[in-house]
Amino acid sequence: MSFTALLQSLPIPIIQAPMVGASSDGLAISVSKGGGLGFLAAGAMAAAEIGPAVAAMRSATDAPFGVNLLMAPAVAPDPLDVARALDRLAVWYGELGLPTPAPPNIFAPDFEAQLEALTAVTPPVASFAFGVLNGQQVEALHRAGSYVVGTATTVAEARAWADAGADGICAQGMEAGGHRGHFLEDVDASLIGTMALIRTVRAAVDLPVIAAGGIMDGHGVAAALALGAEAVQMGTAFLLADEAVTSLPWRRAIAGAGDDPTRLTRAFTGRHARGIQNRFMREMQSIQNEVPDYPVQNRLTQPLRLAAAVADDPDMISLWAGQGVALAPTGAAADLLRQWWAEAGDAARGVVARYGRGSQS
Ligand SMILES: Cc1cc2nc3c(=O)[nH]c(=O)nc-3n(C[C@H](O)[C@H](O)[C@H](O)COP(=O)(O)O)c2cc1C
Repeated sequence: MSFTALLQSLPIPIIQAPMVGASSDGLAISVSKGGGLGFLAAGAMAAAEIGPAVAAMRSATDAPFGVNLLMAPAVAPDPLDVARALDRLAVWYGELGLPTPAPPNIFAPDFEAQLEALTAVTPPVASFAFGVLNGQQVEALHRAGSYVVGTATTVAEARAWADAGADGICAQGMEAGGHRGHFLEDVDASLIGTMALIRTVRAAVDLPVIAAGGIMDGHGVAAALALGAEAVQMGTAFLLADEAVTSLPWRRAIAGAGDDPTRLTRAFTGRHARGIQNRFMREMQSIQNEVPDYPVQNRLTQPLRLAAAVADDPDMISLWAGQGVALAPTGAAADLLRQWWAEAGDAARGVVARYGRGSQS
């Protein structure tokens, strides 16, 4: 079966975005069982955790699913840079009554080890963000029996994944919540809207496109499919789902988000990401370009964000969310999927009906 055929075989062509810190294995199971494609967010997992997570998914459902990794570069930062970065964070840790943490030895799970573990357990779909695999790595995943999806924020990145042998492109528009997946150009050159990106990637590469960014309901699903996407990947729309592990202050920030509440920031992790603007983002904005690159800053702020969530303080949590956040619904994931798919059908039929009337007048 081709990857296109797998996507076309889904009862509902909606992919639940892998979301480190928000999506749970339970959410992925509900989505795959409900007719969509659930995704395990393995980006923050140690290599040894990946096999058991995939085994648990397999024992829960026969339906296809995916596993996602983040291609964090291996880093050995200058200890002085780390000390400076921790100094900048001291005031924030202090506000929560915490000492500034000691410099960590490890900043992110070892990507090569994660990839090896992932290849060994052969999920139906393996997706990647923040970089591009080489041809041998893609071939190893193919030999094992996984389809490979690469995240692209520009046409050039989609071409790079096509050249590496990927089976599909997740086209991530600038509307998307969470980290930007760019890896060839800087962030400013990688902020293409979902609508333009679907069409331009479709025109440039002969691979199925999964549209991501700003798709919040059936209208967005219908629009993306009309633009030529084979499926959609929705993240923010699942943040308030019953099975998501979005923390309570984060949920409240989403539910209470005003008009146009999101901004891009580098301050939390050293890589640009979109979230609901809070005090940390505002007060760090002027120095956000001075913080160490991902994954160093990500690791240095992790204890702060965890402690802030426990303290119910939304001002020091990375409230990742996309531009459509005001539309995030609550409910069980399988019910949301069904609603969105019914709504997509209604939206498509509504356009046809309108067009039909227009052409007769
Ligand atoms: C809270 C959150 C966490 C995310 N974590 C990941 C991740 O671990 N891996 C990944 O490839 N994409 C991640 N993303 C990006 C999604 O895959 C997707 O591009 C995005 O959610 C689509 O835009 P939307 O949020 O408007 O639906 C995350 C997004 C959010 C909102």
